[in-house]
Amino acid sequence: MEIPSRFTGVIKKLHYETGEMAIVGKPLIDIDVQEDVNIDEPAFETAQDGHDSQKVSDVSTSLSKGHKSSQLSENENSGVKKGKLAALATPAVRHLTKELDVNITDVDGTGRDGRVLKDDVYKFVEMRGSNLSSSSEPTKSSQLSPSPLSDEGPQTESIVQLTNMQSQMFKTMSRSLSIPHFLYADEVDISSLSELRSRLNKSLAKASNGKDFNKLSFLPFIIKAMSLSLHQYPILNARVDIDPDTSKPTLAMRTQHNIGIAMDTPQGLLVPVMRNVAARSIDSIGLELSRLQALAMAGKLTTADLSGGTITLSNIGNIGGTYVSPVIVDKEVSILGIGKMRTIPAFDDDGNIVKKQICNFSWSADHRVVDGATMARAAEVVRNFVEAPDSMMVHMR
Ligand code: COA
Repeated sequence: MEIPSRFTGVIKKLHYETGEMAIVGKPLIDIDVQEDVNIDEPAFETAQDGHDSQKVSDVSTSLSKGHKSSQLSENENSGVKKGKLAALATPAVRHLTKELDVNITDVDGTGRDGRVLKDDVYKFVEMRGSNLSSSSEPTKSSQLSPSPLSDEGPQTESIVQLTNMQSQMFKTMSRSLSIPHFLYADEVDISSLSELRSRLNKSLAKASNGKDFNKLSFLPFIIKAMSLSLHQYPILNARVDIDPDTSKPTLAMRTQHNIGIAMDTPQGLLVPVMRNVAARSIDSIGLELSRLQALAMAGKLTTADLSGGTITLSNIGNIGGTYVSPVIVDKEVSILGIGKMRTIPAFDDDGNIVKKQICNFSWSADHRVVDGATMARAAEVVRNFVEAPDSMMVHMR
């Protein structure tokens, strides 16, 4: 990726050869600059500021201080003309200008040496009378305010660039197109699980003596049920490898159940991975879920948190939707989508009307390697564990 330097000067040293892995927090290059610089100031803005900057944000630039040229100090005093020092903007600001479709050279920079800051970009957008939000958060393009309604004139279109998150999703989902999906959906009775969950949460609340405690959601139980079924149907945890020379497909069977959990975050969809679920108790799954959720909401997930998944779970039902048709990602062969939990009237064995809590579980499997019967049997194992959660106890390791 390109990392524009904020400093004008001469590169004196490259700390890495081409192709080498740069270490986060260590210097990348040494620049001999012709001005006073505050070397305590981070060279690049932090991860939250730009999606792409996450990996490079901590890579620092070493500066060897030169002397300030008189022309530069004049600039400092007299203010800098619009866009003149646009090249000094940080990658995060450049990313923002791309997202908001702003030409950085049109923006008045109020930062040091006329550097364009995020606020300058937002002010510019506001003044331009754009429809884009001027909030301090990067705008998700799905949240762009609609154009004012007009009942006159022809249809108009405006071109909006994809955000980094959307570009990533575009690539990932385009790769998924090569996977033939087999969809299998079933209704699951979660009444017992719901009762167990509220009982456990009550005792956790009591044990905490009024202090904060980690409330168990439905997911830790469902995640554990998935992992238990993977012991019986390990193919669902596999990866399809296609030899690039011979085009011969093979399956990589994997021992660890690393379950990706789809999360709706301010930055968009993220799928952090819960590692080695088979070795975790339901309590440990709950704690890890909270940890990943907190990092995801704060935009602080690392590449390690987001990689190495072997199967995915997407609980879209907490937003809404009864039926889901989840999409399998590259390097996995199955995914479970959970719909909205709801209470319905049902008949018991004696024909009486009873209250039931149900939820639809929708699975997608790669039909090149997983047949429908295998998918149905594995889904049935999960359904049985979720419907009778106490039965999981005897299978715990
Ligand atoms: N139906 C109805 N309510 C649900 C639900 C469902 N499927 N899943 C969770 N809830 C309820 C929970 O019970 C909880 O309420 P309560 O404590 O009063 O009982 C509330 O919603 C909040 O749960 P949450 O904190 O979100 O926990 P979670 O462990 O169920 O889910 C995430 C965690 C991160 C998965 C979830 O917040 C999320 O981001 N889901 C969206 C995933 C997504 O975008 N998928 C699409 C991928 S393309």
